[in-house]
Amino acid sequence: MTLMSPSHDGLVSRALAAFEATPAALQGLTREFTDQMSRGLAGRGGSLKMLRTFTRQPTGRESGRVVVVDWGGTKGRAAVVALSGEGPAPVLNEDVFTFTDAQKRGTAAAVFDVVAAAIGRVVDAHPPADYPLGFVYSFPARLEAIDRAIALALTKGWTVVDLEGHDVAALLSAALRRRGLARVTVAAVANDTVATLLLQTYQARGVDPEARPADVGLILGTGTNQAPDLGPAGIHNLESGNFDGVAAIETRYDAALDRELTDPRPGAQRLEKMASGRYLGELLRRALVDIAADGRAFGGLAGSAFDTPFAVDSEQLSRIAADHTPGLDGVDAVLRELRATSEREERGAVRDLSDAIVRRAARLVGAALLGTLRFIDPALAEGRTIAVDGSLWGGYPGFESLVRETFVELVGREAAERIEIAFVKDSTGTGAAVIAAAASERSQACSSG
Ligand code: GLC
Repeated sequence: MTLMSPSHDGLVSRALAAFEATPAALQGLTREFTDQMSRGLAGRGGSLKMLRTFTRQPTGRESGRVVVVDWGGTKGRAAVVALSGEGPAPVLNEDVFTFTDAQKRGTAAAVFDVVAAAIGRVVDAHPPADYPLGFVYSFPARLEAIDRAIALALTKGWTVVDLEGHDVAALLSAALRRRGLARVTVAAVANDTVATLLLQTYQARGVDPEARPADVGLILGTGTNQAPDLGPAGIHNLESGNFDGVAAIETRYDAALDRELTDPRPGAQRLEKMASGRYLGELLRRALVDIAADGRAFGGLAGSAFDTPFAVDSEQLSRIAADHTPGLDGVDAVLRELRATSEREERGAVRDLSDAIVRRAARLVGAALLGTLRFIDPALAEGRTIAVDGSLWGGYPGFESLVRETFVELVGREAAERIEIAFVKDSTGTGAAVIAAAASERSQACSSG
């Protein structure tokens, strides 16, 4: 058995320490986040895009049969949803589809043909009818109306060649026509964070029509982003993954990852590159490869998938965290999947590093959320609700507790206890349906009034 040498222990400890964000650095991040929200809203620049959404909080009584579709990652989904206007809404049937790597780098028409085909499959299962469609587009877009959304640069590793600057609603409508789906009309385009926010309000008001609306929608999955309700200023998509006030917290692993990636380009999506599911496994891979380069431990990584960028995913980090066996057999299984062998002590180091990277992500997300809440309510005097969806938040054991601890640490127990966190499932289904139903009710009211 090759025990880790003291110098190796030192390298591991140094990496662990580098991933520890101090409370002062996190407080600074919160302040900068709030400042950048003000700047963005006033059109004075900054890394928060503060995009308009053309949505309002739902009443809880939205009803009708609508089609929803979501595109924002490798897997997309189309469904028919029946909103009764009284609480939970059944998803009548759904179709999950997967994009290939070639499609992620291909043309917009090819992507929208995949999306339209899935819509065709769910609609075909029902008698012919006119359907409003809610399109969850989980990338940055500048909305000019609820059904007009101009694509900005893509994120999360997508590089569709001819999308930027074009209206994604028009592109989807054209694909629907190519497929003969003329009775499906794009009623609304919304970011996934907006769908999450509005779904929480819809569900709460389904139970109690007077319920306060949710304040912030958060996604923490492949990417991360927030959509707060800013009262009179309306609901905005912050594109908070692009927040760049992270200098006091970044490690050399973060800096190298940012520098070496072309999509998103260096300097873009800085917070997302340190906090979301797409990047956390890659940070672990980089840290381990760096430590192994010293040549005295982690020899079992040589020639393994650890040589390949993005080979480690966040689902594997969740499994590492869930392993409570004395021999760290679960960590061993993950490493073997990646074709790496290890000693018990090395597995302990992998586990510690993985924990530290995810813990830091939770603290970053917590600090950024406080930035938003302080913008809404500087003294944090009122009760607030954050609606959350996403695979990292939902899948990593104890993630929410890590965020809660960060709240307590940064604003004290009393203020932290006024912040409610609601994990909502299915925001891109029911949440999107609520947005589409509200939009089509409004457009009918306009045309008949
Ligand atoms: C990325 C996208 C953003 C989305 C988030 C979560 O940050 O740019 O629009 O909300 O991922 O899916």
